[in-house]
Amino acid sequence: TPNKKYTIAVLPGDGIGTEVTPVAVEALRLAGSLEGIDFEFKEMLVGGAAYEATGVPFPEETLKASLESDAVYLGAVGITKKMPSSDHLPKHLRPEVGLMRIRRALGVYANLRPITVFPQLLEASSLKRSVTEEVDFMIIRELAGGLYYGKPRGFGINEKGEETGFCTEIYSSSEVDRVARIAFDMAMERRGKVCSVDKATILESSRLWRKRVTIMSEEYPEVDLSHMLVDTSGMELIRYPKQFDVLLTTNVFGDILSDVSAMITGGIGMLPSACIGGPGPQLFEPVHGSAPDIEGEDVANPLAAVLTAVMLLRYGLKEEAVAKRIENAIFDTLNEGFRTRDISTPGAKIVGCKKMGEEILKSL
Ligand code: NAI
Ligand code: MG
Repeated sequence: TPNKKYTIAVLPGDGIGTEVTPVAVEALRLAGSLEGIDFEFKEMLVGGAAYEATGVPFPEETLKASLESDAVYLGAVGITKKMPSSDHLPKHLRPEVGLMRIRRALGVYANLRPITVFPQLLEASSLKRSVTEEVDFMIIRELAGGLYYGKPRGFGINEKGEETGFCTEIYSSSEVDRVARIAFDMAMERRGKVCSVDKATILESSRLWRKRVTIMSEEYPEVDLSHMLVDTSGMELIRYPKQFDVLLTTNVFGDILSDVSAMITGGIGMLPSACIGGPGPQLFEPVHGSAPDIEGEDVANPLAAVLTAVMLLRYGLKEEAVAKRIENAIFDTLNEGFRTRDISTPGAKIVGCKKMGEEILKSL
């Protein structure tokens, strides 16, 4: 039988995005071929790289190729050694605009960030083994609304003549409902628990959030729903992270709590994510940014990128067999003792980004 075919739009972006993305692409190519799947990768520009080449951070061709693909893979966008700041650029030309635009163009509204701990990396975390061992939860961050998009926003002058800066957090019931549904459905496939994180004691947007999530829970009698205040959740994620199964939260709280959670897994170089919920292709990206501090040194950890490829297969293409192959290859590579610098453990073989990629391909 002829091979199955998928087209993937690949947007490496800036900084270490261009170093880790090829590792993920090669893993996809090889694992796919072993399961009778051909990938066509369409490499496109986004972020600062796109700005330098075309004058805009999100070119039309990138949009077109993304919309025509079966899934979109994005490396990272942001500042680089070459462009260490984008403050001199008007807001609509900054690299991060590329990220906001692609997320919006695809209509994705739920960001899935799995927090799982590889047993080989327990010593890589600054937290003790008894806390991190067997941690396995899923953060579901609302991605299309809230504080990062709310209007009014801007700068002004107050009645005392002082400068002000302001943003608005606004959520509508439908924005909460659609992401909450993803969380409850996810819990049904997992251990049946949703913890919704908000600041309902202070914020009206959080009061509505809590109300809608509670209403939705009535449709899911099998799911155990709890609510937690965001400050408490910061503490609980470090004290006893095993209590969490699905952690559902807003755009800004999810942004912060997923970086906190990164420290359970050994670091931000281990965290993949999937942006889902849109009508067409979904978007897959490592959680980390362009990391200008380590750019060009071949020391970036490619595992977040490769684990992102796993999510692309699992949630985007529903190709679980290929996903499992890559997951197993990562596991074997870690078992053989290979580590990048950021996840170093006692007695490990420290390798660079490229070498780590080669070892994963060998394991595949
Ligand atoms: P960052 O995630 O780029 O780096 C934070 C720290 O983690 C740095 O010390 C970096 O060296 C380290 N790190 C990140 N990824 C790593 C990896 N794979 N292996 C080893 N170490 C790694 O965040 P930062 O420095 O705050 O932001 C840099 C730029 O990236 C900014 O322009 C920011 O706006 C952008 N950014 C983009 C994101 C995206 O494309 N999704 C997400 C976060 C930041
Ligand atoms: Mg962040």
